Amino acid sequence: MTALSTPPAAAPAAGATVSAPQVLERCRALVRPALAEAVGRLHPWVGEMAAYSFGWCEVGGAPVVASEGKGLRQALAVLGARAAGAPARAGVAAAVAVELVHTFSLLHDDIMDGDPTRRRRPTVWKAYGTGPAVLAGDALFALAVETLAASPGGAAGVRLLSAALADLVHGQADDLLFATRPWSGPRRVRPDAYRAMAEGKTGALLGCAVALGAALGGAPEPDVAALDRAGRHLGVAFQVVDDVLGVWGDPAVTGKPVHGDLRTRKKTYPVLAALESPAPEARRLAALLESPESDPAEAATLIERAGGRTAALAEAGRQVTAAESALAGLALRPGPAEELRALLDFLVRRDL
Ligand code: IPE
Ligand code: MG
Ligand code: MG
Repeated sequence: MTALSTPPAAAPAAGATVSAPQVLERCRALVRPALAEAVGRLHPWVGEMAAYSFGWCEVGGAPVVASEGKGLRQALAVLGARAAGAPARAGVAAAVAVELVHTFSLLHDDIMDGDPTRRRRPTVWKAYGTGPAVLAGDALFALAVETLAASPGGAAGVRLLSAALADLVHGQADDLLFATRPWSGPRRVRPDAYRAMAEGKTGALLGCAVALGAALGGAPEPDVAALDRAGRHLGVAFQVVDDVLGVWGDPAVTGKPVHGDLRTRKKTYPVLAALESPAPEARRLAALLESPESDPAEAATLIERAGGRTAALAEAGRQVTAAESALAGLALRPGPAEELRALLDFLVRRDL
């Protein structure tokens, strides 16, 4: 592909106002053919499960336009390459790899979490069975490594990706173990431990996406490391905002059941922050969460009164500021740097 055959929308005209949804859509359009080509190399049955999870087909393979997801990671990879001064296409292999790894992690995560729906459709394990969903996840993982290894700069890329995956596994392990910890006392989960968990399970791959794009685009190592840090902060902010939406978001917008995280008693940031408060509501909240029958609506009220919602939004704000300062000292191309900042802002302000 030549620079001229890159879809013109991959780089907006100078001076154009940056709209995050447009940035995301442009990057999806740029990456989709390479992603579809990679998925097309899978075993047909496994490829169908992959296509189903990308929102490209129904069970059985009939084409459909379902929700594709935002494609945040692929956008970060493309912007990473452009921010390093390379053309958008230099980030496509990185974008394909991180999108495949992300989808792999979701397929397995939905099994771990026992979640029956994602993006308003049955999850892959619900639609095809647990064994097939595990296999499809494995296939996507292998395809990601193969894609990256075959691209210029692939060896360094594979190192970055495997380091991110090790952190993702750490984060997922802590997330699963948090479920077994008490709500109060010395073994309770503190906000610091939550931050480390979220940085692993969500931040590592976001950091890797932008760092990988930049590395394949020829960025110097310190810039790659700084972009990785920015992505990790974005990941924590993103996860904390997700938690806020999980308690107070509109189910019609989030696609998730009202108070879903409270019903499943997930150790989310607003709850953990509320439990740190000296307010009497914090003790009532701990007692409520420890009792076998707890009313999620009452828990939501206590979390809010103990300051959990405010604390969560403040934490998301701090993480965005940290991400912005990681970007501040870098000699990035101004256009893509502005688009990166627009994405940061958009992702933490979703429907709040
Ligand atoms: C998913 O975390 C993280 C990974 C897939 C590694 P969650 O379990 O908290 O996210 P959702 O709610 O299923 O998307
Ligand atoms: Mg999950
Ligand atoms: Mg999970």
